[in-house]
Amino acid sequence: MSNFILQGNLCYSTDMDRIETREHAYLVCLDGRCAGVFDTLPARFAQLPLHDFGDRLILPGMTDLHVHAPQFAFRGLGMDMELLEWLNTYTFPEESKYRELAYAERAYGSFVSHLRRSETTRAVVFATIHVPATELLMQKMEDAGLCSYVGKVNMNRNCPDYLREASTLHAVRDTRRWIEETKDRFKRTKPIITPRFIPSCTDDLMFALRTLREEFDLPVQSHLSENFSEIDWIRELCPRSKHYGDAYDQFGLFGGSYPCIMAHCVHSNEDEQALIKERGVYIAHSPESNMNLASGVAPVNQFLSNGLRVGLATDVAGGSHESMFRAVMHAIQASKLRWRLLDQNVKPLSFERAFYLATMGGGAFFGKVGSFLDGYALDAVVLDDETLDHPQQLSVRARLERAIYLADERNIAAKFVAGMRLF
Ligand code: GUN
Ligand code: FE
Repeated sequence: MSNFILQGNLCYSTDMDRIETREHAYLVCLDGRCAGVFDTLPARFAQLPLHDFGDRLILPGMTDLHVHAPQFAFRGLGMDMELLEWLNTYTFPEESKYRELAYAERAYGSFVSHLRRSETTRAVVFATIHVPATELLMQKMEDAGLCSYVGKVNMNRNCPDYLREASTLHAVRDTRRWIEETKDRFKRTKPIITPRFIPSCTDDLMFALRTLREEFDLPVQSHLSENFSEIDWIRELCPRSKHYGDAYDQFGLFGGSYPCIMAHCVHSNEDEQALIKERGVYIAHSPESNMNLASGVAPVNQFLSNGLRVGLATDVAGGSHESMFRAVMHAIQASKLRWRLLDQNVKPLSFERAFYLATMGGGAFFGKVGSFLDGYALDAVVLDDETLDHPQQLSVRARLERAIYLADERNIAAKFVAGMRLF
């Protein structure tokens, strides 16, 4: 059983506006869950194994709420286009390579080993349309000890022949086989229903995915209101919908009684935001991707203030890097430019809120995840910030902020996921 104690400088959100810091404190883990933070260790825990991390920082692991594993191979390339052209020029050709398992083995091996070394403990992942490669990715995520949802992507229209499911029947048959083969195979890795986005899926495929979702009781992920041309296209494709979110809702793929993540929501209007809130849909805010693809900046602070569920995401390879620390920084920076240049009604994100998004905000998709409050899963990252030398005294809170801004995965000294130490 995973019962142990971590000792060090603990930093964790208690709500979206507060980061608790506890110097040289003890975090008790029982059965893989947090069971108390103490300044002096109670005698009843004295027998448990203790990991003493000295003066290092210990923070909750981060959740990447939206990332494309097959796009990791071209991260940092092809940043000269907007979404639809970028998909056709860079993304689809790369994703088609995953029909070859040998390529998937190399590329997914690289993705998973980077993720394992990073501050990410949980992720919600897009794969490709290919079942064998998707199952290979799931096996690699499981072996790495990370917790994740992974989606075999569905797409049967508006994409090149070389990356298109042969028919709706084929897509549904493949998706069903993949669900049956993976739903109980892993402990930490689960399937999630994944229509790429409405332009890539015919109506009958969307309705079939809804039926599969109901039959196997699975969550859903997709993309929503990322880019102006995409939204215009939805008006043509779904003329009877009030907005893009309503179109998903009419297909029965927009949350409510089951968990659902929509990436981006950069241009969601008031009605769409209201439906997102009503259905409890999680927004995967992807600030770097939204800058790289010139999509815009989502009013994420407004989402939070209005009680919408939001987490943070890298959206690799719209985003160039798997680092959630960078995502925290980009979320703050983008929110400042949005405020300065576009809309003084939505204040910039505070560091507290951005940190919350990366930990508790997205973690909530996995249950009690992303804090060290009692009952939360013990996901922890130990940061050695000694190389970030400084002449002045710094508080733990200041050290945390700086370590995140200077994001360097080489400073990650240890990592625990659901009570298991990965390194
Ligand atoms: N919309 C549909 N597919 C994609 C994708 O791969 N990346 C991003 N950022 N948006 C999408
Ligand atoms: Fe995406």
